[in-house]
Amino acid sequence: MTILRKALIPVAGLGTRFLPATKAQPKEMLPLVDTPVIQHVVEEAIRAGIKHLVLVTGRGKQAIENHFDVAYELEDVLRRRGKVEDLEQVQGITHLAQFAYVRQGEPLGLGHAVLCARYAIGEEPFALLLGDDVFDPRESALSGLLAAHAATGMAVVGVQEVPEEHVSRYGIVNAGPAGTAYWNVTSIVEKPEPARAPSRWAVVGRYILTPDIFELLVGLEPGAGGEYQLTDALAILARQGRLIAAPIPAKRYDTGNKLDYLKANVEFALQREDLRADFTAYLKELASSL
Ligand code: UTP
Repeated sequence: MTILRKALIPVAGLGTRFLPATKAQPKEMLPLVDTPVIQHVVEEAIRAGIKHLVLVTGRGKQAIENHFDVAYELEDVLRRRGKVEDLEQVQGITHLAQFAYVRQGEPLGLGHAVLCARYAIGEEPFALLLGDDVFDPRESALSGLLAAHAATGMAVVGVQEVPEEHVSRYGIVNAGPAGTAYWNVTSIVEKPEPARAPSRWAVVGRYILTPDIFELLVGLEPGAGGEYQLTDALAILARQGRLIAAPIPAKRYDTGNKLDYLKANVEFALQREDLRADFTAYLKELASSL
């Protein structure tokens, strides 16, 4: 399977769906049990063999950079107290990958965030992982996209079928033949009304992009919501017959959405050896009292 060298993770959005928690802290630092959402996303990229991570950050997002940096005072205290396991955990985060940060001065949309990273990415294909979309770590969300890119050389969007009442939250592509590993996208629409949607196949936060995307982004006018929409650039690729959709079988949590965030916390806790037994007993007791 192709292994890409670089992944781009935009984390400069305002997180307005998660106020007031996101007034003074990035939504990407909210924890699933004890690990920030952004660390789950970074670890997914690393599991796919990617070594260089470019994060697009903005004002108020310094906690993300600090999380992946050396924490000298903390490490010193842990070392002096002999807390070896805690020290290893804290230091391990710094060595996960090579990190580079690019600033997006204003959150003008995902298309604009991607364009901000143009010179950090350069002239090579790259993975794009949205910083608030988390997939079940027991499966590789990116593997189907990487296989489709290896077979076609084209840009790939990861898709999942969503209920009809949710299509207006996503970019929606035309459906492919049932059961295929990937298909050609002929139309893609950002946040359509259900009646205008080409299908229920939604783009869900994982992409493989080719460097020609940057030139398409430069030419964009602001689209839906006054933002520079990545979907508008992908629509140009689709019209040229150069965009692929690949279904992602792994379960997904949109942690920027409160209900999905709660579900992710419960399900991640149930996967933890140290919490499973006590937490299951608690949930059973709670359920029987509802
Ligand atoms: P979202 O639309 O989910 O994030 O963007 P948001 O704008 O922060 O959320 P709400 O709707 O206000 O609650 C998906 C990803 O793209 C990043 C976000 O940080 C998120 O990880 N993003 C979005 C940027 O980096 N820059 C932008 O201008 C917009």
